[in-house]
Amino acid sequence: MITEILSADNLSRGIDALKNGEVVAFPTETVYGLGADATNSEACKKIFEAKGRPADNPLIVHVLDIKELENVLTGQMPKSAQRLVEKFWPGPLTVIVPSNDTIPLLVRGFMPTVAVRSPSHPIARELIQAVGRPLAAPSANRSGRPSPTRAADVWQDLRGRIPYIIDGGNSPVGLESTIVDCSVDPPLLLRPGFIGLQTLESVLGGRVLRPGADAPHKAPGMKYRHYAPRAPVIWINMKEDYHIEQALLQLKEEFPGMALMASRQWQRCVAGPFLQVEDTAQDIAHNLFSGFRELDQAKPDAIVVVWEENDQGVGLAVANRLEKACTKQLTWEGCVRQVTD
Ligand code: TXA
Ligand code: MG
Repeated sequence: MITEILSADNLSRGIDALKNGEVVAFPTETVYGLGADATNSEACKKIFEAKGRPADNPLIVHVLDIKELENVLTGQMPKSAQRLVEKFWPGPLTVIVPSNDTIPLLVRGFMPTVAVRSPSHPIARELIQAVGRPLAAPSANRSGRPSPTRAADVWQDLRGRIPYIIDGGNSPVGLESTIVDCSVDPPLLLRPGFIGLQTLESVLGGRVLRPGADAPHKAPGMKYRHYAPRAPVIWINMKEDYHIEQALLQLKEEFPGMALMASRQWQRCVAGPFLQVEDTAQDIAHNLFSGFRELDQAKPDAIVVVWEENDQGVGLAVANRLEKACTKQLTWEGCVRQVTD
């Protein structure tokens, strides 16, 4: 299959393809999505095929507004969903609600619930509007790879497997939406994202539970290894400069060709490729996935990330993505955690 890149001022071919049951990659404010008509099982099957995605991992359905959420919902709108949607839509927030039959079981991973998000990106909105249907769209990467934040990333992963990629420049957020399961009470944070836990709790005026910490429940997709470039990722999760320097020097002996993503002061510790990021969670969030892909191009023997974990705002999401991407995490206690799955 030939893959064509369409510019943002030429959406009509993308729209026609979606109407005809094809898949099209398009930009959203979080990451690029691989979209298809969410009401068309055959079309959505192509998403799973192109990504190599396991069938038990459901897709997020993209709509324009709360009215369109009501169209796919069964029963009363959960209060938590109503509040969150009023506050954060359109934007990087996905809610899980009990589903009616509008969205096929295949899209929902054979679950009684459905994940719904209203993107703010103008191209994503124009597509949903013009197609006149909700669009199912997971991140437009091959399963297990870092989510794409540029058309070139989608091209790298899915060239020859999908007909169209719409180029809308860089995704401003850089990592995926916050997912809140509103089908249970209290609601459950299934995937941390740009909107932080503290913000969710203040809008809801009550607790939001966290899987692992508070409950066994998980988003099906979160059990798979994720977000990984080809080189192994090693995360230095430490505070003291002295410890960081020691860790870097040791790693350099083990991986002489390692690449580094860190603040400027650590550049002197590597000979290989270096990507400068600020020490803030916001900046790492914005650069993490594109940085993985960029550094990976030089075929380093490891990609090392220096960032001290915190759970404020988008910090929780960055820690979550790094934990899933890394093969090894070095913490200040000197404990080395090997991730095996
Ligand atoms: O920002 C985003 O959310 C991007 C853009 C394209 O909108 N999409 C995205 O989709 O990240 P994806 O497929 O990469 O991640 C969807 C996650 C998976 O972990 C999946 O298991 C979970 O949402 N999910 C979907 N439906 C669910 C449901 N009914 N119950 C629980 N988890 C669900
Ligand atoms: Mg994904």
